Amino acid sequence: METIIADTYEEMSRIAADMIERQLMRKPSSVLGLATGSTPVGLYRELVRRHKEQGLDFSKVITFNLDEYLDLRPSHPQSYRYFMNENLFNHINVDPKNIHVPYGHAGDVEEFCEWYEQEIKRAGGIDIQVLGIGADGHIAFNEPGSSLGSRTRLKTLTKQTIEDNARFFDKAEEVPRFAITMGVGTILEAREILLLANSRKKADIIAEALEGPITAQVSASALQMHRHVTVIVDAEGGSKLKRADYYKWIFQEKKRLIPRLIGKVT
Ligand code: F6R
Repeated sequence: METIIADTYEEMSRIAADMIERQLMRKPSSVLGLATGSTPVGLYRELVRRHKEQGLDFSKVITFNLDEYLDLRPSHPQSYRYFMNENLFNHINVDPKNIHVPYGHAGDVEEFCEWYEQEIKRAGGIDIQVLGIGADGHIAFNEPGSSLGSRTRLKTLTKQTIEDNARFFDKAEEVPRFAITMGVGTILEAREILLLANSRKKADIIAEALEGPITAQVSASALQMHRHVTVIVDAEGGSKLKRADYYKWIFQEKKRLIPRLIGKVT
């Protein structure tokens, strides 16, 4: 695991964009796993800028989103499909037929989840998966207690997640109670994982997930078992990490000596 403590949200987003750009240079037909929420908005803004100003090419890219609320249609302003269109897809040259976001209104949810897993396999697996983290340690919507081997399925959201996400809805009662989500096991199969977290609200859970025990009570802690994870936090998000000085030292040494090793396992 490499933990990078950036000074600001903007720097966090830029380093993440550098990693995605490097991946696209290496493999223009990369399969990207994408997240919604406030955390990756700066990353998407930076990718859009690089596409518009520097021609960063997404024409061969395939995308899979982590999750979607149950029963929300893609045209619903709070659906994750709508969010992705607004923040990324409408502004880059990704081929719409290469975009995959779980259908919140799928008739047979179980069959749909099985299909989604098969589609990821047919695409050759996810090359790099972007993740945020919930205040309860969830990645995607794998709430506490989710099996660390879980696959794409329907999940009941915790009260905390419903409250956290109520800020996007007019009323808390409007927040859906269920979501279709990739499982922890699905996520762990990505070749590379990029976890982003900013703000003081995430400081405790980031420290727990990275430096605490691996437990199904904190889904993000399962990332400790993955062979290629880069965690990028801003100064506030990283403020509770016990080994912050060591992570900072590694980052400075890499920047000084071998910048291309940032985000590589060393
Ligand atoms: C979103 C997702 C969630 C969010 C998490 C953090 O697709 O899977 O796990 O990443 O809830 O949300 P924000 O970024 O809004 O704090």
